[in-house]
Amino acid sequence: MEKTFAMVKPDGVKRGLIGEILKRYENKGLNLVAAKVISPSLDLLQKHYEEHKDKPFYDDLIRYMSSGPVFAMILEGDNAVKMVRLLNGPTKIEDAQPGTIRGDFCTNTTFNIVHGSDSVESAKREILLWFPEYMNKI
Ligand code: TYD
Ligand code: MG
Repeated sequence: MEKTFAMVKPDGVKRGLIGEILKRYENKGLNLVAAKVISPSLDLLQKHYEEHKDKPFYDDLIRYMSSGPVFAMILEGDNAVKMVRLLNGPTKIEDAQPGTIRGDFCTNTTFNIVHGSDSVESAKREILLWFPEYMNKI
């Protein structure tokens, strides 16, 4: 069984969409292995988005991600990494079809309410970053 890291971002939490989003993952057949509401430190966010540190959208992204608590999850299932990204919808909001989480709830690429790891390697890295207590379990 594959594991992935997913997150409801601050505006998703503020808008009361945790239950709606989790329901979509569970309906698809993914199982929740761990979850927590957490106000991420700047250090954690910088590590999480390290690959984007030189991008023009980086400062806005970090500001947005620091704007409130997030709902962090470990999900497990067949092709969990790909399935979460399929349910989330594409990064660019103009490509996100209705039926996907981003397509149904977002109008702006920065404020895109969900995160999903982009590969099995990223998932391992992000699970250890956000759930260090799982160190011995993956
Ligand atoms: P990225 O890792 O490319 O997307 P995803 O979240 O789908 O894996 O980018 C990280 C976040 O940065 C993305 O969720 C929203 C933000 N972002 C922008 O604001 N503008 C952009 O042009 C891109 C590519 C990302
Ligand atoms: Mg990404």
